[in-house]
Amino acid sequence: MRPLHLAAIFVSLIACVDSFGQTTQPIIAAQEGGATIWRIQTARSLYEIGLAGDGVVVPLYYGPKDGPTSVPTDRLNVVGAKIRSAIREIPFRGGVGEQVPAIEVVYPDGVRDADLTYDSSSIAQIEGQPGLQINLKDPAYGLKVSAYYRILPELDLMQRWIVLSNGGDKPITLENAQSASCQLPAGEYGLMHLAGDWAREFMPRSAPLTPGVKTLQSRNFQSFTTPPWITVCSDGADETRGNVFFASLHYSGNWRLDIAQSFRGDVQLIGGINFWDTALQLKPGETFTTPRMVIGFSPDGIQGGSRRMHQYVRQEVLPASFRNQPRPVIYNSWFATAFNVNEQQQVELAKIASQIGVELFVVDDGWFKGRNDDHAGLGDWIADPTKFPNGLSPMIRRINDLGMDFGIWVEPEMVNPDSDLYRAHPDWVFNYPTRKRHEQRNQLMLNLARQDVYDYLLDAMSKLLRQNNIKFIKWDRNRGLSEPGWPAAPREQQRAVRIVYMQNLYKLIDTLRTRFPEVMFEDCSGGGGRADLGMLQRMDQIWPSDNTNPTDRLFIQSGFLRMFPPNTMVSWVTDDNWHHAALSMQYRFAVSMAGVPGVGGDIAKWSGADRETAKKMITLYKKIRPIIQQGTVHQLALPTAGDRVALEYLSPDRKQGVLLLYTLRDPPAGSTDAERRTRVLHLVGLDPNAPYSVRNDPADSPEQILSGRTLMDVGMPWPIYGDYNCAILRLQKK
Ligand code: GLA
Repeated sequence: MRPLHLAAIFVSLIACVDSFGQTTQPIIAAQEGGATIWRIQTARSLYEIGLAGDGVVVPLYYGPKDGPTSVPTDRLNVVGAKIRSAIREIPFRGGVGEQVPAIEVVYPDGVRDADLTYDSSSIAQIEGQPGLQINLKDPAYGLKVSAYYRILPELDLMQRWIVLSNGGDKPITLENAQSASCQLPAGEYGLMHLAGDWAREFMPRSAPLTPGVKTLQSRNFQSFTTPPWITVCSDGADETRGNVFFASLHYSGNWRLDIAQSFRGDVQLIGGINFWDTALQLKPGETFTTPRMVIGFSPDGIQGGSRRMHQYVRQEVLPASFRNQPRPVIYNSWFATAFNVNEQQQVELAKIASQIGVELFVVDDGWFKGRNDDHAGLGDWIADPTKFPNGLSPMIRRINDLGMDFGIWVEPEMVNPDSDLYRAHPDWVFNYPTRKRHEQRNQLMLNLARQDVYDYLLDAMSKLLRQNNIKFIKWDRNRGLSEPGWPAAPREQQRAVRIVYMQNLYKLIDTLRTRFPEVMFEDCSGGGGRADLGMLQRMDQIWPSDNTNPTDRLFIQSGFLRMFPPNTMVSWVTDDNWHHAALSMQYRFAVSMAGVPGVGGDIAKWSGADRETAKKMITLYKKIRPIIQQGTVHQLALPTAGDRVALEYLSPDRKQGVLLLYTLRDPPAGSTDAERRTRVLHLVGLDPNAPYSVRNDPADSPEQILSGRTLMDVGMPWPIYGDYNCAILRLQKK
């Protein structure tokens, strides 16, 4: 039988069930020809797994709901009730499995092969969403493994994770425990992910997928080189069309995402904690829960995947307390005053900041004991007595009197050897007694896996927040992990250090948030070195890069918006102009207004005209803030594709929109026809039958009225010319 026939039989089975209306349930367990098939449906996708005759749970299909374009027939092999089980839904080390394993264990007797077979399953709500739990067991040793699926049908996403428990009477060593694995149908695929470095984060890179295993990973807790996000694009898929699978991890430590394509063409997508240099002892009765992995499907190309990620972050991930709150306009004095801070000078800056419309004034690095440059002070989280002889509170009161909240920078996970903390506790850092302690930015990393370090940091941060009216914490982390030794722990616990560290870091931030629910948190790691869903579960926004040069930022922000929504993307207007381009104040603000704008320049030195422009732009931003921060984003023109950038933000009801348009360079006279044709801007997502007014701010400027259909199909002329020009247009449905 030709493969296509098998596919057709299977599709008809699905269609048959459909016609009885059973598949309106997001998750069903169907008995077909004596076999159990679990069928998970979202608005646009179908995910199927089956129970093979030998008790192995096998993946069957993942893709568009309207039917498999190509079924992995060698795996499916539906002959009567039999499903061949060479490929597993939860791949493990053991037997004849060839996939990248999700589970690798060593049993107490030295056996390294697992044999996990089906035990039971249940379909029930998990945290208010449809959920499936499949339980496997290895009876010879008492290991139990539960795979969880929590479905977000409207977003075409599933959250996946695994819980392992030791039901035996001796410890089991976990050498690997991934969060989830899934199989994509055989086909031609492209891979797209974000790559980068310090000051050039979130740069999209793509390549055709070829057979073999591609691994994206972090092994030192940093994700500058690539944040944990991947898209796998079906043949022909592009920015806005075609089938795209995407995945991301709720984890900020060492992680990995593997994409393995067989020579036959099917693809395994698997991810979770990177167990490199790691092993965990699971004692009798203990359980280990992996972080969550989110896996989604978009039939609307790469940007469809990004929009689903945005909604997911806004609805499910961000801390609930500020989830729907507008993010304030910030002033941060780091670029203006660096380490040299004092009360009077900060209050002078605050006066100007309040005049231009800033809502939150943040003092960055340099405020704490002994911190005159980056050689000393980290670890001693009390106000420097020479810079702030009366503590921080008098300054905070004066800033509050100007009508602004106050925020502060901390880097709790770090210590300078030149600090009281290190002098008292040199054993609190990661170290191996026989190895050099390598410093980066003159700092070492505290071993937060230690209970005493955890207690100290919770106490120090709690005191800081209790004693001062602080409404915002910028939580930084300026180096990666080295010499990850934990000499004080028992030998069998030492290789768990990277995981225990992350558990304690998350617990620390969560505890602080519970104790101080009115405090917002910003995630920073020397820029965007730790931007992920694990952080966004407990941080309200992200500082994407130390590079604030506006033209570079257009690239960084475009990449950032692939993964995260605009209400998490902080962007300050500073005085940096790395490429010496002629950039107007409007342009600089327009760039920062694509997300959560702030001001970071030395506003004391800004001219009256500059401050006036700043005030105007911030006033405009506050009007469009709900659309920018909560709207649907379409990247109409990407900076990587030419010499201009266009972003469209639409309110969820499609009644209001904002267009942020920028030029980079003006194309020279000899530019090609193709470039000239793109001088027309086609909008997307509008109500085709409604008229829209399009105009510049202010609202009394001349308006142009065009139907949604015209704006989308015919387009509007690109309205700005010249190098580094910008326009902010507003759309209003009439
Ligand atoms: C890091 C951050 C910056 C700033 C400095 C302060 O580099 O990314 O924004 O806070 O530290 O030292």
